[in-house]
Amino acid sequence: MSEKHATLTIEGNNYRLPIITGTAGDKAIDIRELRSTTGYITLDSGYMNTGSCSSDITFLDGEKGILNYRGYEIDVLAENCSFVEVSYLLLMGELPTQTQLNDFRALLSRFALIHEDMIHFFDHFPPNASPMAILSTMVNTLHNFYPEMTGDSGEDLPEIAARLLSKIRTIAAFSYKKSIGHPLVYPRYDLSYCGNFLNMMFDKPVKPYVVHPQVVATLNKLLILHADHEQNCSTSTVRLVGSAGVNLYTSISAGISALWGPLHGGANQAVIEMLEAIHQDNNDFEKYIKKAKDPNNPFRLSGFGHRVYKTFDPRATIIKRACKQTLKALNVDDPLLEIAMQLEEITRSDEYFVGRNLYPNVDFYSGIIYRAMGIPTDMFTVMFAMGRLPGWISHWMEMMGDTKDRRIGRPRQIYRGHKKRDFVPLHERG
Ligand code: SDX
Repeated sequence: MSEKHATLTIEGNNYRLPIITGTAGDKAIDIRELRSTTGYITLDSGYMNTGSCSSDITFLDGEKGILNYRGYEIDVLAENCSFVEVSYLLLMGELPTQTQLNDFRALLSRFALIHEDMIHFFDHFPPNASPMAILSTMVNTLHNFYPEMTGDSGEDLPEIAARLLSKIRTIAAFSYKKSIGHPLVYPRYDLSYCGNFLNMMFDKPVKPYVVHPQVVATLNKLLILHADHEQNCSTSTVRLVGSAGVNLYTSISAGISALWGPLHGGANQAVIEMLEAIHQDNNDFEKYIKKAKDPNNPFRLSGFGHRVYKTFDPRATIIKRACKQTLKALNVDDPLLEIAMQLEEITRSDEYFVGRNLYPNVDFYSGIIYRAMGIPTDMFTVMFAMGRLPGWISHWMEMMGDTKDRRIGRPRQIYRGHKKRDFVPLHERG
């Protein structure tokens, strides 16, 4: 990264602040010495203008709609790779050779089971427990069962990552089977990452599940598209929690909790709930558009808008295409797809949305595909977490490995409370 300088003038004094330029020409003013040299901090609610780190993993350009993992364009990866291949790329920094891929797949098979004692946990969640709460709890509990494998144990990264990638899939499928009172289906060595998940979700003793190639291909694509997205809320959470020296599983568990929010990964579930509400309302689009535009109404169009993308989210474009292909291949006619496309079309000619660069994001069409696959709505964000896991692990590892720059994350603030005041004893407070 090359360095130039910016000049900041405060109270007649000039301060030179280094300018850092990233690989893709992205620029930052380095303010790491700002407070010690000027006594000032910066204030940036929601970190809209603030970089938290330097990273080699993902690059995105919100104005141009560009998303690259380790330098490879997202659409090229989505069309040509499996999720396991892209997970390896994010984690190790290079696409795997066939041997490396075979070895990684073997690790995923080896680590697919969870400790049988963990299965009893499922019996004690309430029947309507949120799959995201279960996932966050069970991933955090993995630390109790595998305390030696916490990411900083010097174990090989592929093993650490494969253990989590494989077990999150099993935990997700087991939690679904428990929620519907069906017998658990165990992972199998002869099935792929996605084929195993689908089989664990939908196979039954009375009717074997036939793994549909189109469904497997689409699931691979969806997980790839969710695999990383630089410093989003949940990834930043994983980094912040990890910066305190917390083990990998617990840091990931915190990321799962952050992803749950309807403004973040929870949006894919909220989109379906919104589309269903419009459908129940006889497709009264105007009512929902009006609500979304009303500054006094907290309702927002779920699946629209993005902190970084001010043009079409490149992932949404790919998912929309995959949605149509998959529903056609599965011979599924879901009225929500037509409603989604009509809603998108309406916003494209509405100044409120056009003027604010509000386009469909990654969450807008993904849920329609999950529905067609038979995945329940309350598991859509679990699917997002499964996809995002390799990104979270990669960022945690990158942060933990940055021994030069790494320190505990601790933002500053501007205080707006009371000035110093005298204490009033209880008996004098009236
Ligand atoms: C993800 O960061 C990432 O990379 C996240 C993610 C990833 O891969 O990790 O891409 C995944 O979380 C995608 C986003 C999913 N969330 C949603 O779909 C929820 C609906 N979207 C909005 O809540 C909102 O767009 C956010 C949360 C996504 C972004 O919020 P910002 O950047 O804080 O923008 P903002 O709320 O300040 O909005 C700017 C304006 C406001 O209007 P004005 O005050 O200018 O009048 O746009 C309006 C907002 O009211 N607006 C919307 C809207 N999104 C923004 N109005 C109606 N519907 C919406 N969806």
